[in-house]
Order: sequence, then structure tokens, then C-alpha cells
Amino acid sequence: KWDLLTTSQLSTKEINEIILSASEFSSGKTWQPDKKLFISNLFYEPSTRTKSSFEVAERKLGLEVIPFEVQTSSVLKGETLYDTVKTLEAIGADSVVIRHSADNYFSELENGISIPIINAGDGKGHHPTQSLLDLMTIQQEYGSFKGLTVTIIGDILHSRVARSNADALVRLGAKVVFSGPEDWVDQNQLPHGCSYMSVDEAILLADVVMLLRVQHERHDGKLLFDKNEYHRNYGLTIEREKMMKKDSIILHPAPVNRGVEIADELVESPKSRIFKQMENGVYIRMAVLKRALENRNGGMKNDNVDQK
Ligand code: CP
Repeated sequence: KWDLLTTSQLSTKEINEIILSASEFSSGKTWQPDKKLFISNLFYEPSTRTKSSFEVAERKLGLEVIPFEVQTSSVLKGETLYDTVKTLEAIGADSVVIRHSADNYFSELENGISIPIINAGDGKGHHPTQSLLDLMTIQQEYGSFKGLTVTIIGDILHSRVARSNADALVRLGAKVVFSGPEDWVDQNQLPHGCSYMSVDEAILLADVVMLLRVQHERHDGKLLFDKNEYHRNYGLTIEREKMMKKDSIILHPAPVNRGVEIADELVESPKSRIFKQMENGVYIRMAVLKRALENRNGGMKNDNVDQK
């Protein structure tokens, strides 16, 4: 079976194939499975974009969506994640999409679950479909990743989006610059191909400026935080936007805290591709679902063939 758990499991060939497949869906291509297939979306953490766009993608592909809400499920009676997925598999789910607050929650599903698992975000670990939709948005703009500088600004340490994107972008030939509060970037353990700079330096160099939300829920309630001060020191202010390269673009995985990591006026400004990212998310999720369902009974395995 083919699971999508992390971007690092995908070769660059697979990344490009998924983006191409998503582009075909965005141009009107359709695909339906050859028999009725069931899918369930298990969101143990809140979500607007990822959950809704998986649901739209599933309906566009003609899949039967089994409703599942943690708050009205037997999770509240103590049922484990493994037993929940095993139950859905027994009932007839052909695949599951899962978001969970635990890093690497999927390691407990490795043995015993036979249906494909699509990771919709694990703690501060990985968010592979977010990364793929970000990559698709960048490719639409520039055609390629080689030689691009992508500046990722904010709460790097707690961000699964930063981790997934840095991994994929470096392998695709981009330079990744992290920026933001020094305490939120581990400068001793920067991923291969990534560097750290001040916000002003990093914005000047960037072809893509990606802002991140401050992940309050992952700071164990210890965060002392002044929104105006953060905006002044690390946010994409109106003044900093004027320093950006002429053809550069702004990305944000959202939800956006307007006036904190980005000035309110810039969210829907000409350089912003934030809502384009959301639109692309539906097509990327269609491509990922198609790939998982086509390969659910043997056949393709994760094709991790990149030479490091
Ligand atoms: N970008 C993202 O994952 O948004 P949601 O948390 O709303 O799904």
C-alpha cells in the first residue's frame, strides 16, 4: 500500500508526479475509482482548510465519506487511535485521513492496519499535503524550484509546515532561509541546506516569503507574547513588504493572525497567494487520494529513491 506520512518519504520524482496530477485535476481532468470506495477523516485536532478540502476532494472523486467526529465517537470512552482505525477498516473504510496532536502518531499504526493512511498533520512533526500544495503554488509562479530562495518566518521550532517544506524544497533545489525569534529556531540543528538570518535580511533575498502562525497550542502555556511587538519585530509589515523583490510572492498556510505575523492589508494584496494555496489544496488532495486508492492492494510502495 502507499501511505502519505511525511514529505521525506517521497522522492522528488513522486513529488513532481503528485503536483502534475494535481495540475491536471485543476485543468478539469476527472478520475473515479472502478468501484464504490469509502473513506473517513479522523481529525483529533481542529482544522478548517485541511478537513474541508479533503472532504471536497473526496466528493469530487466520487468517494463515500464516512462521517467521523472525535467528540461524538468512542474516543471519548477511551478507544485508542489504533482500535479506532482498525474498527473503521473492519467496517469497510478503504483509506483514512488522520490529524493528531501526537508527533509520529502513525508509528503505532505501522503493524496491523492494511488500508492507506494519509497524514493531515501530526503534532509538530509533518504536514505533507500542506507542503505539496505550497510546492504546487510556488511551481505555478516560477516553473521550477532550482535557485529560488524561500524564506520561512516565525515559530519554526513548533511548525510541522516548516519541517515538511524545508525537507522538500532543499531536495528540489531551493535555498531555505529560516527567520523569526531566535528562541524559536534551533540554530545548532538546522536541517541540511537551511540557514538562519534576521527578518530584514531574509526578506530582501526572498523569492517566496512564507509566514507562519505562532503555535500557541504547542508552547505548553508558557508563552509571553505581545502581538504588536511580534508584528513590529518579526511580522511582514507594510514597510517590509516594500523591501521584497518585485516578482516575489507571499505564502501562509493559514489560519492567519491578521496584524501579527502579517499586516491585515497584505493578506489579500497582489503578492499574496494565500487563497490560491487553499484552492490548490483541493487538487493536491485529489492527487494524493487517487494515488493512495489506486495502490491500496499491493503495487506501489513509497518510492524513496532520492540520492542523499
Ligand atoms: N493550513 C492548515 O493546516 O489549516 P487548518 O488547520 O485549518 O487545516
